[in-house]
Amino acid sequence: MANPSLLILAGDGIGPEVMAEVKKIIGWYETRRGITFDVSEGLVGGCSYDAHGTPLTDVVMAQAQAVDAVLLGAVGGPKYDKLDFSLKPERGLLRLRKEMDLFSNLRPAQCFDALADFSSLKKEVVAGLDIVIVRELTSGVYFGEPRGIFVEGNERVGINTQRYTESEIARVARSAFELARKRSNKVCSMEKANVMESGVLWREVVQEVHDKEYPDVELSHMYADAGAMQLCRWPKQFDVIVTDNLFGDLLSDMAAMLTGSLGMLPSASLGLPMANGRPKALYEPVHGSAPDIAGTGKANPIACILSFAMALRYSFSLGDEATRVEKAVEQVLADGARTADLMGPEGGTPISTSQMGDAVVAALTASLKAA
Ligand code: IPM
Ligand code: MG
Repeated sequence: MANPSLLILAGDGIGPEVMAEVKKIIGWYETRRGITFDVSEGLVGGCSYDAHGTPLTDVVMAQAQAVDAVLLGAVGGPKYDKLDFSLKPERGLLRLRKEMDLFSNLRPAQCFDALADFSSLKKEVVAGLDIVIVRELTSGVYFGEPRGIFVEGNERVGINTQRYTESEIARVARSAFELARKRSNKVCSMEKANVMESGVLWREVVQEVHDKEYPDVELSHMYADAGAMQLCRWPKQFDVIVTDNLFGDLLSDMAAMLTGSLGMLPSASLGLPMANGRPKALYEPVHGSAPDIAGTGKANPIACILSFAMALRYSFSLGDEATRVEKAVEQVLADGARTADLMGPEGGTPISTSQMGDAVVAALTASLKAA
């Protein structure tokens, strides 16, 4: 059988630095586990704009469509702030999501025991937290038409459109229910049905899919603003949250911060199954390109490493290996390894991005001896 194929798009800012650590792990799999990935690389975001005048070339788009999984670092930076909207680094990422039809974005927010003190919330509120936000990723106000800045009378008006079809809502709802069945069988759906028609439809369709196909799953509905409040108050009441593109963007940043560090959290964006049965997939850290620390060795590579672990699980059917990587990360944190973002008020000496990657590789090797 052909080796699993992986397209690496490291992107901008800290993207290439954190990706360098994932490459160490890919190398480890080849030498220590005999699992070889066919790795190719390409440009996305500002670096692609610099080289080709576009945040994503058609060539890279076609490569992304052809591989088993895409692993992306981060895109964007202040250098590109003044660019026309269509040329901004973010458009490269949005094009990948849209053209690969990656409608289901899984954003786990998990609190590592060793880091429970880092949350801005009390330890008992976050210790052991393990929830997943399923964010709709290819529609809603991010893509709805009409959009633009128009002139009306003697002033400008900015327009974006929140638009959802039944089938778009139904398919992301299904992916949330499927995930829930593998976890605690519980889904909370969030929208603003009190003010938005798209929210009314969202609530109805999620309920219909539930009643027809997933009656065994416990389903609740919440207005997204109340959901944000409840996430802060007692996040452990949730297990799987399903929500739209924009609310999911906000709620997932908030859920991420509950766990203490945005630098720790991975994500998977999944689409429909390809001919080989694997879902179209792109994996990326939840954090951004952090241009302020790019090149300083301060970035935490764990979110990107855990994104690779998600690829092992969801694209390559290597769930045990995904668990091995996750356990290795837990181990290095328990042993006290801390990058700069994980320095508590008591201070200490942080290790570099590269040292963190080495520590994870060493823990992987130790996992073989322990077995
Ligand atoms: C995210 C980011 C993106 C988004 C940006 C970079 C386009 O914030 O993945 O959450 O808004 O979706
Ligand atoms: Mg975001």
